[in-house]
Amino acid sequence: MAEQVATNITWHEGDVTAEERRANMNQTGCTIWMTGLSASGKSTIAVVLEQVLLQRGKHAYRLDGDNVRMGLNKNLGFSADDRAENIRRIGEVSKLFADAGVICIASFISPYVADRDAARALHDDSNLPFFEVFVNPPLSACEERDPKGLYKKARAGEIKGFTGIDDPYEEPKNPELLLPTHELSVEQATEKILELLEAKGII
Ligand code: ADX
Repeated sequence: MAEQVATNITWHEGDVTAEERRANMNQTGCTIWMTGLSASGKSTIAVVLEQVLLQRGKHAYRLDGDNVRMGLNKNLGFSADDRAENIRRIGEVSKLFADAGVICIASFISPYVADRDAARALHDDSNLPFFEVFVNPPLSACEERDPKGLYKKARAGEIKGFTGIDDPYEEPKNPELLLPTHELSVEQATEKILELLEAKGII
């Protein structure tokens, strides 16, 4: 957990309430946190979901592991500490999006329970809905897909500490939704998230 370093700082309250923001956006902001192995389908589903939500007139925005690692988190690698810092920052950023009234779709391997729970706690503390979606095809299915050839490299020892091969993935205990993408099409998986958002009163 990152410690507060700066001193002599004071929270400056705004004038716009959460209700006013909701009314202005005509929706409730939230975070859909998609976790799972590399090549499980997180990013593919996130892209379709974002498009469908926009077509329905909703404001949605995607935060994607590979993309964020090219910008905000370009100084982080894949050690346990760096992965934790990666998820801490994304937890904070997704909270800001949700607070702004946006449906934030975060897709990150996020292999550690403690880091995902911390992201959830940040949202809970601000009364912002947080939905953990575990994209959970078996490792064998991810490895078979291997769209970026990374599993092949990891098996050959060319990548060290690859999640699922020689680095851990801690499964969620109580995710809001499971998406076994070896049995679901991208459309079916997207539909399941939409059903969750409807059931929770977000859309
Ligand atoms: S996380 O573990 O810190 O949550 P994140 O989702 O940001 O990971 O990035 C994962 C992506 O980085 C993978 O989809 C893959 O393309 C790439 N990658 C490169 N090296 C590794 C590695 N050692 N383990 C997992 N993914 C890696």
